[in-house]
Amino acid sequence: MERLVSNWYNHRALPESYICPPETRPGKLSIPSGDTIPVVNLGEALINRSNTILNVLRASQEFGFFQVVNHGVSEKVLNDTMNVVEEFFKMPMEEKASLYSEDPNKVCRLYTSNINYGTEKYHFWRDILKHHCHPLDDCIKLWPQKPTRYRDVIRTFSVEGKKLGLTILELLTEGLGLESGYFKKDLSEAMLLVANHYPPCPDPSLTLGLPKHCDPNLITILLQGHTFGLQVFKDGQWIGVQPLPNALVVNIGHQLRIVSNNKLKSAEHRAVTNSKVARTTVGLFISSSEDSIIEPAKSLTNAAQPPLYRAFRYKEFLSYYFSMMGDTELALQPFKLPFNQSVIS
Ligand code: OGA
Ligand code: NI
Repeated sequence: MERLVSNWYNHRALPESYICPPETRPGKLSIPSGDTIPVVNLGEALINRSNTILNVLRASQEFGFFQVVNHGVSEKVLNDTMNVVEEFFKMPMEEKASLYSEDPNKVCRLYTSNINYGTEKYHFWRDILKHHCHPLDDCIKLWPQKPTRYRDVIRTFSVEGKKLGLTILELLTEGLGLESGYFKKDLSEAMLLVANHYPPCPDPSLTLGLPKHCDPNLITILLQGHTFGLQVFKDGQWIGVQPLPNALVVNIGHQLRIVSNNKLKSAEHRAVTNSKVARTTVGLFISSSEDSIIEPAKSLTNAAQPPLYRAFRYKEFLSYYFSMMGDTELALQPFKLPFNQSVIS
């Protein structure tokens, strides 16, 4: 519990254990201005569905990241969600103590830094609240009891966020030419909520809130609030994700990259800190059920475009991903098919 950054950040200079190696430091954070990820108006789908599909598909192919506006999740739901999660992190430590755990198997927990505080080489400037959202009626009983509105507000956000995720997946299904409902069942059955809290940091140039990674799941929907901090790695450069009012950020995870046989991109991204204000984000990680089989969709592969990955169970992927501390290409390695083998199969 003492390890939570929010517990000690305003009493100390940046501890040495939070300083990243020079090659991963954000430095002065100069981001090329004008360069950002696409913004897709989902409201347009009602009048020009094919154009919306094209926009979502292009953004997923080129960036693996986009923002959506007119997405159907109301401003009230977004504000309530951000407010209740911010309130959670502001509560006195005693109120949160029972949720703190360093056991990754705990289904609802408060922890800090990244995958494993005990074994990581250096730490990250972040506290995290993470819990399952499926099956909702079972796991809601394990969610925080305070703030008292937490369960109600987050239930609504998770239901509406999931619906939005499925809408986007269906647009991608059509865009890729897969059979309708391809992602509807096992492949998108599970969901995790991850609330990230990045307190103000004494030296944002030396540390990261979250290291460069790709999300392991199918697709992620992120409410990033008003404060800049999310960056996407594209063509060898970091580009910033502009906070936009009432927008949600969407990114393709590794499973969608695999199922699409690399037609869609799972982009690397990271979070930087700032010295002025705390930044809070709320992510919904739509995932396959642990036993579901992940493989490139049969209709997207043929002799000319052989499958680039073997079939595997999602839980096998997850445990390897976490053992590699989220390292993007290493995490995918054992699931890739050697080119000649894929031609034969
Ligand atoms: C994540 C993530 C970005 C952010 O939680 O996987 O990429 O800005 N978060 O908090
Ligand atoms: Ni991420």
